Order: sequence, then C-alpha cells, then structure tokens
Amino acid sequence: MTEPTGSTELEDQGLPLTALAVAAGRAVETSRADPLVADPFASALVVAARSHLDLPTVWPAEPAEAPPLQQPLLLASIYIGMRTRFIDDFLQSGPPTPQTVILGAGLDTRAFRLAWPDGARVFEIDSANVLEFKAHVLSRLSAEPGCELISLPADLSSPWRETLLGAGFDPAQPTTWVLEGLLPYLDAASQHAVLGEVAALSAPGSRAVIERAVALPKTDDIEAKLREFSEQTGLPMSELLARADPPNPVELLESAGWRCSSHTVEELCSTYGRVLSLDASTESGPEAPEPEQQPNSDQSRGGFVTARLA
Ligand SMILES: C[S@@+](CC[C@H](N)C(=O)[O-])C[C@H]1O[C@@H](n2cnc3c(N)ncnc32)[C@H](O)[C@@H]1O
Repeated sequence: MTEPTGSTELEDQGLPLTALAVAAGRAVETSRADPLVADPFASALVVAARSHLDLPTVWPAEPAEAPPLQQPLLLASIYIGMRTRFIDDFLQSGPPTPQTVILGAGLDTRAFRLAWPDGARVFEIDSANVLEFKAHVLSRLSAEPGCELISLPADLSSPWRETLLGAGFDPAQPTTWVLEGLLPYLDAASQHAVLGEVAALSAPGSRAVIERAVALPKTDDIEAKLREFSEQTGLPMSELLARADPPNPVELLESAGWRCSSHTVEELCSTYGRVLSLDASTESGPEAPEPEQQPNSDQSRGGFVTARLA
C-alpha cells in the first residue's frame, strides 16, 4: 500500500465524513470520566483529517449547552461508545479465531488497541484512501498492531472474495467477522451479497457481529429530519442511508446453519449504563429508563446480531 506523502494530499483524499464522525465519537467517549472504551488514536485521526466540520473530540463539562452544531455529534458519541464497547466485548469473549475480517473498517483501531492471541491475523477492508490515511497517521504515532494486520482496499459493493483470498485469507479456518456501521451504506442487493459472502467463506467455529441496517420509510417527516441533521452536521445522511428493504442478517445466516442472537440498542443502554440523551447521560447509573422514555430511542438504530457457526 502506498503512503500519502504530505498534508496537502491528506486534505484532498475525500475521507468519508461518516468514518471521521465515528472516530470523533470514539475520541469523545475516550475523553469521558467514565469511558466505555479507550481509543488512544481516535483524536489524532480526527485532527489529522483537517475536516471542514467542527467535529468534537472531547466530552464537554455541560454537553446540553454545547454549540447546536456539536450536539447531534455528542449525542451520536454516546451510541458510538456503546457500539464500540459491545463489539470489543464480543471480540474479547468466546473462543478466539485465527483470523478476523473487519468489513468497512474505516478508522477502527482495534488491530492496534486490543490484545490479540499469538498468530492472529486481522484483515481490514475499506476504500484505499481510508486505509492509507489511517496507516499514515498511525505510523506517525509509531503505533504497532498487536496482530498481523492486512489492509485490503476493495469496494464491498462489487465482488471482493478474490481480493481476500489473494491476501492469504484461509476459508478452511474459523473467522470472526465484524460489520460495524457498514450495512447502512450499502444498497439492499450489496448487503445481501456481503452477508452471503460472510456465510460462504466461513468455516465451522466462525463468529460474526453485525450492526443491522434498518430501512427508513420515505416520508416527508423523515426526509425533513434527515435534511435538518445533514445541515447541522454536514453528513450527507439521505444519500447514504439504505432505503430499500435490507435483508435480515438473522434469516440469511440461520439458513446457512448459523445460530444468531439479536441485541437491541436499549439492551446496550442497560448493559453499559448509558442513556441516549445529552441531559441525563453523564450521571446515568446501571438502571436505564424504559425504551419508550428514551428521548432518542430512534428508529434508525437497528441493533446488533451476534452469530456463531457450530
Ligand atoms: C460509518 S463508517 C464505519 C467505519 C468503522 N466500521 C467504524 O465503526 O469506525 C462506514 C465505513 O464503510 C466504508 N464503506 C462504505 N461503503 C463501502 C464500500 N462499498 N466498500 C468499502 N467500504 C465501504 C466507508 O469508507 C467507511 O469507512
């Protein structure tokens, strides 16, 4: 993989704002007094990107009084913190597999910040500019992966199996698959194809953690909310969120012999003692309110699927 050579090139790479916004969420979570995750690289990745957006990297003393443009991103950071921790916990529990594939890896730094068993191989797939930018920033920080890291530029809406196999992925070995924040950005046919490849390339003993995509009904109200959110944050939500009927990962994987469990966002709030609100989150204890009381228990969050192939 070629490295970008200078800061001008970095600014011109057109990094997806969504990947940066998620890294900002992890930076904010890391800065909290009660962090669910510690990502020591997230803030540096956001800063190095020189985004035209004012992305927060620190949890403010008075989040409800943060500038209006930052509030949706601070709110999102609560979700990102729980999501990151949930997937970290999944990866660090249960029998380890010799290889892990992170699809749509973005600025995820798990290869660097988690403890991996000896000989673990981690394949990260995303677009070349995202992977090059991340490698560039992490190498400037002298960060070393705790595993064998294989970065694979590929378009996940086109066939990518040969790219993975060509990089040494062994379909005869159990694999752990991570699909975090990816499916909503693929159309329904591509989601179906990606999940089909996960099933087709998995040996017995494989595991998967998948953040679901949820189809948004195309109503004027939802259009207006997405437009408002895009205007506030600069994130092109309406272009990015899948509108067609997304496949159900549980149906697809169970028909291929996997055993699946579903996890709601409310379950994560309860497990991690967080509330999706800028008013209440700082002081929340392990008791989360009922889902219907949560101000932002929103429909666009589809929850998670964890799965295992015996
Ligand atoms: C919201 S970000 C999430 C990144 C990462 N999983 C995380 O949680 O930090 C979505 C990522 O999916 C990647 N992505 C979206 N569509 C893709 C495609 N067709 N092929 C490869 N990567 C894609 C984007 O480049 C971006 O890095």
